[in-house]
Amino acid sequence: MHRRKILVLNFGGQYDQLIVRRVRELGVYAELRDCDVDLNSLDLTELSGIILTGGPQSVFDEKSLKLNPQVLDLNVPILGICYGMQALAYHFGGKIKESDKGEYGKTPLTVDDKAKLFQGIPEKSIIWMNHRDSVVELPQAYKKTAWTDNCPVAAFENDEKKIFAVQFHPEVAHSEYGFNILENFVINICKSEKTWIMEDLGQKIIDQIKEKYKGEKMICGLSGGVDSSVAATLVHKAIGNNLQCIFVDHGLLRKNEASQVMEQYAQIGLNVKKVDASKEFLDLLKGVTDPEEKRKIIGNHFVSVFEREAKKFGDAKYLVQGTIYPDVIESGKDKASVIKSHHNVGGLPEDMLFEGVVEPLRELFKDEVRALGESIGVPHDMVWRQPFPGPGLAIRILGDITEEKLQIVRDTDQILREEIKNYGLDRDIWQYFTVFTPLRTVGVKGDQRSYDYVVVVRAVTSVDAMTVEAANLPYELQQKLSNRMINEVSGVGRVVYDITSKPPGTIEWE
Ligand code: XMP
Repeated sequence: MHRRKILVLNFGGQYDQLIVRRVRELGVYAELRDCDVDLNSLDLTELSGIILTGGPQSVFDEKSLKLNPQVLDLNVPILGICYGMQALAYHFGGKIKESDKGEYGKTPLTVDDKAKLFQGIPEKSIIWMNHRDSVVELPQAYKKTAWTDNCPVAAFENDEKKIFAVQFHPEVAHSEYGFNILENFVINICKSEKTWIMEDLGQKIIDQIKEKYKGEKMICGLSGGVDSSVAATLVHKAIGNNLQCIFVDHGLLRKNEASQVMEQYAQIGLNVKKVDASKEFLDLLKGVTDPEEKRKIIGNHFVSVFEREAKKFGDAKYLVQGTIYPDVIESGKDKASVIKSHHNVGGLPEDMLFEGVVEPLRELFKDEVRALGESIGVPHDMVWRQPFPGPGLAIRILGDITEEKLQIVRDTDQILREEIKNYGLDRDIWQYFTVFTPLRTVGVKGDQRSYDYVVVVRAVTSVDAMTVEAANLPYELQQKLSNRMINEVSGVGRVVYDITSKPPGTIEWE
């Protein structure tokens, strides 16, 4: 039997997706499921092991999530992390102490170097702790394998039953040998096969589409973003020109972006129809100042244009979408409160008549989509393109949208992009752009009084857009930006740098 899959059971921890990503970095396929998932509904034929994630609860809460005992009958090794460890200890009759005070952050750890999980790990190292309750008495037949000053049982195992547990978080980068510990579990203990290799996966997805959809016609909405581009390229490699792509230019893209993106699609060989709908969008947006209203107008009209165009290819039965794994996981959870309604260009118009949706990236994380994209020849600039919001520059112009304001954002954004690239910072910064504000400010240009607009430079570092910091741009670069923007772009009187983090701010200004 092949052993090639790790099942990660989620107890609500904040590092749930990170655990899955780390296992995949080891070359082994992993998938995330809720801890109370019906195991009979899963395909467990090639399972090699199970990881129980952390979570915010205490086993003493009546309503806390408990270990499903059927997990123990699957006869594969189990690793419990943080709350996952406590759930195991509780189940097997160990003693857990409740505590108000916890242990957080980097902590020195000592391990028993004979423990299976810690083979090849130094006896002393630094790990990342993040817990309140802790195990104080081991369940019977378990051996303590690690400890810290404040945590008498920081890990335990029963090698015969193949059950392992750690109180700390091996998945986070702050745990010095965390990755090695996960490798010990996934590769040495579970004996998982390394079959999760992007180059092979690309070909596998292409072959599957080829086989399943032979002779069928499909449509794909392209946005210039990495997900839709990689999804379309995979499908194109499988069914060639039976895939018809549609690129709607809503007139809210950056300078020269529409033509650059079209050139890149041509390089890949995609069959794309570009629809210039900019006038329609700008007419609909005339005088509209409210950000959510702008989003709604753009989102709705985008769907109508896409629908109108798609009808022209009436024999297409399937819609290709760039849905990725975090979208799939998120849609199964309670929705977080809506701060901004996100409209993703390329989203499925609900009442469109398609027989089905083809989502070749459903199992992949963003970094995997990028690696796969590179491996199938999607142009580098497209694979590494920074995120760009569906409503485009409309939400980077505060207040109503006019051609003059669009011109100012486009020209200042272009200068920012050039300079960030000159300084070699384009790969370090998550997102960078300029924002037009309707504020006017007095200045002197030549010997004359000027009364021009304030433009904001926004540049942020992040790993997932959930939390961000303002990027620490070199002062010399900031000066250069201000000089160039004021001198080269008419209508700009002052340039300011936004130093707000998220939270409490957001990345975009609207
Ligand atoms: P915020 O501003 O919420 O942005 O911190 C987080 C990420 O989402 C992008 N963003 C959007 N993307 N439609 C999109 O497709 C939208 O309406 C939208 N608003 C924000 C933003 O650029 C950042 O990457």
